[in-house]
Amino acid sequence: MAFINIAAKIAGISASTILLALVVPFLTNFPTPLLTSFIGGFPLPDYPLAVPFKFFTNTTTSTTTTTTSLSEDNNDDIPFTCDVSHRYRTELVSLDPLIIYIHDLVTAPEITSLLRTAEPAFAPSSVTKNGRQLQTQDRTSSTAGLPRDDPAVACVLSRTRSFLGTMLRDGWDEMGPPQLVRYTTGQRFNVHHDWFESPRWANDGSMRTWNRVASFFATLQDNCTGGETHFPFAKPIAPPSPWGERIWNGGLTRQKEEGEEVKPLWREHEDGGLAFRPVAGNAIFWVNLHANRTGDARTNHAGLPLVDGLKTAMNIWPRQYYPYE
Ligand SMILES: *[C@@H]1O[C@H](CO)[C@@H](O)[C@H](O)[C@H]1NC(C)=O
Ligand SMILES: *[C@@H]1O[C@H](CO)[C@@H](O)[C@H](O)[C@H]1NC(C)=O
Ligand SMILES: *[C@@H]1O[C@H](CO)[C@@H](O)[C@H](O)[C@H]1NC(C)=O
Repeated sequence: MAFINIAAKIAGISASTILLALVVPFLTNFPTPLLTSFIGGFPLPDYPLAVPFKFFTNTTTSTTTTTTSLSEDNNDDIPFTCDVSHRYRTELVSLDPLIIYIHDLVTAPEITSLLRTAEPAFAPSSVTKNGRQLQTQDRTSSTAGLPRDDPAVACVLSRTRSFLGTMLRDGWDEMGPPQLVRYTTGQRFNVHHDWFESPRWANDGSMRTWNRVASFFATLQDNCTGGETHFPFAKPIAPPSPWGERIWNGGLTRQKEEGEEVKPLWREHEDGGLAFRPVAGNAIFWVNLHANRTGDARTNHAGLPLVDGLKTAMNIWPRQYYPYE
């Protein structure tokens, strides 16, 4: 320690800087230009953040985009334009693990455009077990990957990136490739977690690993009965109120009419935990990892079977990257 302090005085820098250098040897000792290129203003190997960022760093385009997006539903020829002024509303559901309900995260024109892009790509879903991609009866839905440079995809990614704030470090972490998932009658996804038991290799030559630090699950199509998203181990801050919608729509909406059926957005499930009803445009956000980077088993969840109809949702999995250790 004395040596470090003396060295620091000589060098005219703080001891903590040197300590940082000592505990993060990969930053200083690694000679390859490959690794050092991750520090500072560098291009991300997997995902150009410049694409989504432009949508929320420059809000001057919002007036023109609103008009274009409104006509999107009726006119296939008008290219999608991101409504950077779109506003959504959040409600805390659980603090530990953190679960947040997001109203109106995805707009109707975005849903139209996302579905149009993904429609030809739907294929049977797979799961990762022991590091391998498998198709199993645990997950009977179909899945479609989404190109991140598609304007509607980039638009939703920029909004969700913005939501995350400093949970992702600019130029180091990234949003990960999103996918759409579709359930029809009888299809389900048994209890699973979105995080990986051990971080995955980045496969981009960067000598990094990553894990899914959090998840957004946004419903795009909700014409179904059943199909709730069930977190068997989650506990709410407070149980849902008998007032239902009045409370769970933020207390801002009208009161319940006489004899009106109120459908709460989520409920306490009879087998324990919380069950979220699919509502198009709305999303659930939760944090997958503990601070020590291990997976939080309380975020385990299931896509309950669809009794009838069709449910389509968007998975967004922000990735946190770790240096090779
Ligand atoms: C924001 O967008 C406007 C209109 O497209 C453009 O004129 C302006 O240069 C942009 N500003 C920045 C900081 O990119
Ligand atoms: C990581 O943190 C969680 C929550 O505090 C704890 O339960 C778990 O035992 C920790 N795991 C390790 C390997 O430190
Ligand atoms: C919704 O689902 C029902 C039954 O599954 C079906 O009859 C109806 O046509 C669907 N509506 C739309 C708009 O897809």
